[in-house]
Amino acid sequence: MKHPSSYKRLLFLIFLTYSTHHTAAHSLTIPRLSPNPEWEPTLHDPRVASDDAGEEVKTFYFKQILDHFNYRPESYTTFPQRYLINFKYWGGANSSAPIFVYFGAEASIDNSPKSIGTLIDNAASFSALLVYIEHRYYGKSIPFGSRDEALKNASTIGYFNSAQALADYAAILKHVKKTLHAKNSPVIVIGGSYGGMLASWFRLKYPHLAIGALASSAPILYFDKITPPYGYYSVVSRDYREASETCYETIRKSWSEIRRVASQPNGLVTLSQRFNTCHTLKQPSELMNYLRSMYSYAAQYNQPPKYPVSVICGGIDGASDGSDILSKIFAGVVAYRGNTTCKVNGPTNVSETTVGWRWQTCSEMLIPIGIGNDTMFEAAPFSMKIFAQYCKKLFGVSPRPHWITTYYGGHNIKLVLRRFGSNIIFSNGLRDPYSVGGVLENISDNIVAIHTVNGSHCLDILRANESDPGWLVEQRKKEIKIMRRWITHYYVDLYALNNNTKFHSK
Ligand SMILES: *[C@@H]1O[C@H](CO)[C@@H](O)[C@H](O)[C@H]1NC(C)=O
Ligand SMILES: *[C@@H]1O[C@H](CO)[C@@H](O)[C@H](O)[C@H]1NC(C)=O
Ligand SMILES: *[C@@H]1O[C@H](CO)[C@@H](O)[C@H](O)[C@H]1NC(C)=O
Ligand SMILES: *[C@@H]1O[C@H](CO)[C@@H](O)[C@H](O)[C@H]1NC(C)=O
Ligand SMILES: *[C@@H]1O[C@H](CO)[C@@H](O)[C@H](O)[C@H]1NC(C)=O
Ligand SMILES: *[C@@H]1O[C@H](CO)[C@@H](O)[C@H](O)[C@H]1NC(C)=O
Ligand SMILES: *[C@@H]1O[C@H](CO)[C@@H](O)[C@H](O)[C@H]1NC(C)=O
Ligand SMILES: *[C@@H]1O[C@H](CO)[C@@H](O)[C@H](O)[C@H]1NC(C)=O
Ligand SMILES: *[C@@H]1O[C@H](CO)[C@@H](O)[C@H](O)[C@H]1NC(C)=O
Repeated sequence: MKHPSSYKRLLFLIFLTYSTHHTAAHSLTIPRLSPNPEWEPTLHDPRVASDDAGEEVKTFYFKQILDHFNYRPESYTTFPQRYLINFKYWGGANSSAPIFVYFGAEASIDNSPKSIGTLIDNAASFSALLVYIEHRYYGKSIPFGSRDEALKNASTIGYFNSAQALADYAAILKHVKKTLHAKNSPVIVIGGSYGGMLASWFRLKYPHLAIGALASSAPILYFDKITPPYGYYSVVSRDYREASETCYETIRKSWSEIRRVASQPNGLVTLSQRFNTCHTLKQPSELMNYLRSMYSYAAQYNQPPKYPVSVICGGIDGASDGSDILSKIFAGVVAYRGNTTCKVNGPTNVSETTVGWRWQTCSEMLIPIGIGNDTMFEAAPFSMKIFAQYCKKLFGVSPRPHWITTYYGGHNIKLVLRRFGSNIIFSNGLRDPYSVGGVLENISDNIVAIHTVNGSHCLDILRANESDPGWLVEQRKKEIKIMRRWITHYYVDLYALNNNTKFHSK
């Protein structure tokens, strides 16, 4: 959740940096993963908790070790890692009251207590302590003293990976439990998107620290060819088609029309005027990438009650009679983004999330996303070769496309996890294009998939609202019921084992 104006900047940046070097024939874009849209105020309601959610929170810094996995001299260096605690609802250590822990993802943790509303919504009924931990290299949790130093070269950015991040979370959880004398308090970890992946992996790797995980919109199967690369844009297209067949058709036809106009004498000037661009377009792909990212973003964060996809299609379908394709497309842009500022190639700003996530995708978090033949977009297959060249140029590294599945698994997940692991909820909204890489089937009695047909990215972990549709209310209820069961079973075991002198430890 960023300041609204950073939204456009971010999107420009992601698309333009790629497109200036590559033709549209290849998709180098790995769309952002984040629980919250960097919304524009009018269209994405900031679903935040009341102000007290922010005020109740206390900030702490943990002296975190730089490198958990080696014993080289620099491994022992430390950096301050930020975490936040809300004590208001906690039943206390003496009653072994639970701890809910939100795992920060590729952004600062500043707004999480407000935006990840499911924690605060349920804290009172669970008497839970709420903890929010920031991911290393984001927000205020920066090694090497400054972001410039931390991202400077391979020696410093090399400590920026998910395994180190999970170990950070483990160290902080142990510290928090020790400080609060909360040895027996059960911990449930919660995350959305990339953070949801971390939560599910944490449950598998650190079962002694978390009794369960809620992984919202976590595309843990979008790696290493488990999920076909074209899934993402197929879902985007399906969302538009479901919203309006004519809208879908208009968008589908618009790309060749943009190319046609651009190829005419003065065509780029014409396009620039018609789309109210901030500067004259240098090539049609600037406009096409802007539109593609806008459509995708609206689909990913297609939240009730406004449903941005319907807003865009309302603009496109609602354009006055006789409007040509480009006028309809622009009407869609205006319906979504408003008609006050210039569009498409405005001033850019590189957010820390853009930079950080770019590194993460160029190292281990390689989610191959291409565009197939059956969408409303021009086909653009994913090319590992071109992506690797791009990463080499940017960071001097080659991605490790098999590392995530080597370290965390993913292939044959049903077979593998049926008899190993427990207490993970994989929640998804099937209109979220990232849901194609999510776990959508129940794996066992205790590793379950809870999805909604009309849901979007990370919707379930946001703040509840009286206007929420029934299916969303139902999804959240199911999740809470399951988590309550985990805790009940945990207490049964805890008491049983504590009563048994054989296992009693001093
Ligand atoms: C928790 O238990 C300890 C030890 O029995 C006791 O000293 C302390 O006062 C209790 N705290 C609360 C808040 O009840
Ligand atoms: C990274 O920068 C530091 C500080 O300037 C320097 O000492 C180190 O040699 C550099 N490492 C690499 C791999 O370039
Ligand atoms: C957007 O604003 C411009 C200038 O204010 C106006 O000419 C144009 O018709 C508007 N477009 C739409 C789709 O409202
Ligand atoms: C770019 O982002 C930085 C850091 O968030 C901010 O300080 C700066 O004002 C931004 N620049 C523009 C042009 O928005
Ligand atoms: C799209 O269709 C063309 C021709 O039929 C084929 O060569 C190409 O591989 C297809 N691309 C994808 C991504 O399916
Ligand atoms: C998985 O099981 C739960 C009950 O534990 C059920 O509510 C849910 O609908 C199931 N999910 C799927 C995808 O069948
Ligand atoms: C999903 O939304 C569509 C309208 O867009 C509606 O027809 C359908 O009933 C909804 N499905 C569910 C399961 O709520
Ligand atoms: C619920 O959402 C509406 C907008 O859809 C908003 O105006 C209202 O403030 C929200 N209520 C709460 C309690 O957040
Ligand atoms: C021991 O077991 C009894 C009966 O099963 C239970 O009521 C009690 O709470 C347990 N006590 C402790 C300290 O676990």
